[in-house]
Amino acid sequence: MNINTSPLSDDQIELFTRLTNSLSKEQLAWVSGYLAGFSASGVSSESPEIQEPVAETNIQNTLTILYGSRTGNGEGLAKKALKMATEQGLNATIKSMADYKVRDLQSEKNLLVIVSTHGEGVPPFAARELHEFIYSKRAPKLENTTFAVLALGDSSYFQFCKTGKDFDEQLEKLGAKRLVPRIACDVDFEEAAENWLKATLPAFGDGKATAKAKPQFRLDIPVKVSVAEKKPEAHTKKNPFMAPVYEKISLHGKGSKRQTLHIELSTENAPGLDYEPGDAAGVYPLNSAELVGDVLAVTGLNAGDFVIFNGVEKKLETALHRNVELSKITTDVVGRYLETYPNKKLKKLSEDTDKFKEYLDGRDIVDLLQDYPSEITAENLIKILRPLQPRYYSIASSPKAYPGELHLTVGVVNYENAGREKYGTCSTYLSEVEVEDEKVPIFIERNPGFRLPENDETPIIMVGAGTGIAPYRAFVQHRELAEKPGKSWLFFGNRNFETEFLYQTEWQGFLKSGALTKMDVAFSRDGDKKVYVQDRLLENAKEVYQWLEEGSNFYICGDMKNMARHVQDTLVKIVEKEGVMTKENAQEYVANLEKERRLQLDVY
Ligand SMILES: Cc1cc2nc3c(=O)[nH]c(=O)nc-3n(C[C@H](O)[C@H](O)[C@H](O)COP(=O)(O)OP(=O)(O)OC[C@H]3O[C@@H](n4cnc5c(N)ncnc54)[C@H](O)[C@@H]3O)c2cc1C
Ligand SMILES: Cc1cc2nc3c(=O)[nH]c(=O)nc-3n(C[C@H](O)[C@H](O)[C@H](O)COP(=O)(O)O)c2cc1C
Repeated sequence: MNINTSPLSDDQIELFTRLTNSLSKEQLAWVSGYLAGFSASGVSSESPEIQEPVAETNIQNTLTILYGSRTGNGEGLAKKALKMATEQGLNATIKSMADYKVRDLQSEKNLLVIVSTHGEGVPPFAARELHEFIYSKRAPKLENTTFAVLALGDSSYFQFCKTGKDFDEQLEKLGAKRLVPRIACDVDFEEAAENWLKATLPAFGDGKATAKAKPQFRLDIPVKVSVAEKKPEAHTKKNPFMAPVYEKISLHGKGSKRQTLHIELSTENAPGLDYEPGDAAGVYPLNSAELVGDVLAVTGLNAGDFVIFNGVEKKLETALHRNVELSKITTDVVGRYLETYPNKKLKKLSEDTDKFKEYLDGRDIVDLLQDYPSEITAENLIKILRPLQPRYYSIASSPKAYPGELHLTVGVVNYENAGREKYGTCSTYLSEVEVEDEKVPIFIERNPGFRLPENDETPIIMVGAGTGIAPYRAFVQHRELAEKPGKSWLFFGNRNFETEFLYQTEWQGFLKSGALTKMDVAFSRDGDKKVYVQDRLLENAKEVYQWLEEGSNFYICGDMKNMARHVQDTLVKIVEKEGVMTKENAQEYVANLEKERRLQLDVY
């Protein structure tokens, strides 16, 4: 028998050989019986996609868990739901909306939808097709479907959990029966989501499902696994990697009033930190000592007061520095503040959506406590504030070109508002981090909706403004190493040619080497007339359309509020003019590009 031809991994072969070599004949006989029994019991610690049906004929005990996730929160919850459902005896399967055949919807009996919201109230990329389908004329009647929706979101956005709400309402309109009211989970969703799942999952069954039988065998022979043999745990959002900082370089020339930094982090030997061009890195920041000082000053609280955060007692100053958001105030924070410290004026403001939005924009917790003072206690302050969230940065390096490294392009946020100078928490934290002396907590956020074409020869058009250029550096580095890279065209916009042409010499090098075929730039503040990337696209309409007709992918990265919308509108104009078609047909052409994943957006 040749173990090397077995389906076991090298590590497993080594472990297995060492175990079998150490066993007596009797022990071997017992172990082979045990393994046969274990295998027959159907218990598996892996492969969540393949589940043993508990009661194949009982459709009431089947459940499809359908998730639409971008940053992985929904995916993680879906996997947890699968485990819980299976333990409860449900015959559950898990599917990403990205791979889901929309036509299968009509045959679903029990459906658990877990979906987040992105952009400004739009579905994550993975959920777009299904979301569109349920609103389309092709959407089926779902009278035989029972469903429940777990919506993920962030209440700092005005369109809180919009996509989950859409699914919930539209499934009902299509005739499906809502099993329980939808839950809308905020950023600290874990506990609420788990409790809701615990209460909801049993209701999907017919009450007859029983927990899966555990194997009847017990392994009495201890298998010693030394620490050295244990695979190191992969770094994730919950277990970030402390990345050493290799390099920090200012990308702006002298005289620029703004700051954009190129930061190089080491990811060497860090499991879970492998990435592809298009992915982003999540960074956990710290609040600045200055802002913490301002909060203490405005509240009159003592830095050394003790508070509880997440069940752990710590000094107020530490909690303010590490655990809670100070630089932004959101509707949920104001809501909790009002509940604890009622204030008529603030209540009135919070009821006027436009004025309230305007007030919140650019203000921080110091402003709120100054404008609407109270005798707030340290304990209540920590309860009212929201947990400090990681920020995301598009990765600006290709792992092929820089193995063991990860580069970021960080625009440092700094503005004046309500009479005070304000600094973005994470960008400022990164701007102050000490090269070679400090480590930055990071994890990878996969972004399957923003990828280079599978075929290296497919042409690509990349449009980005400001830090929106970051992923294109990764794209071009990656394609430079491909055997036969297709042509590529970069449109880049910023304010000034002299001071804000990010990575100028690198692009020139890529143009020279042929890794980049063409580059057009737009600097909005150089001349009398403001010029933006969309203007450059329009000037090149004929050739842009030609590239699209040749099968080029089209990418947009950077500012969500203005640039992305203008570029998409311009794309429609280009197609309308150069393709000689009606506006409606041009819109359909662009919509099809998106459906075919040839038009991809990474906007924030
Ligand atoms: C997928 C993704 C990729 C991203 N990639 C990048 C990237 O490659 N590079 C990059 O630099 N950023 C990127 N970002 C943005 C980044 O995540 C942070 O949002 C950004 O760095 C600001 O975070 P901060 O903690 O410094 O600021 P915060 O403390 O979060 O403060 C930001 C807030 O300040 C307010 N504000 C900012 N400017 C003004 C102003 N002029 N007037 C009034 N109010 C203002 C706004 O309310 C804003 O929400 C990306 C975001 C996402 C979601
Ligand atoms: C760029 C961006 C935009 C977002 N927009 C919204 C929004 O409009 N409404 C909302 O409720 N949540 C919004 N969120 C928050 C996410 O929905 C939330 O973080 C959720 O937990 C993500 O789940 P996922 O990782 O499964 O995608 C946004 C997050 C990001 C990064």
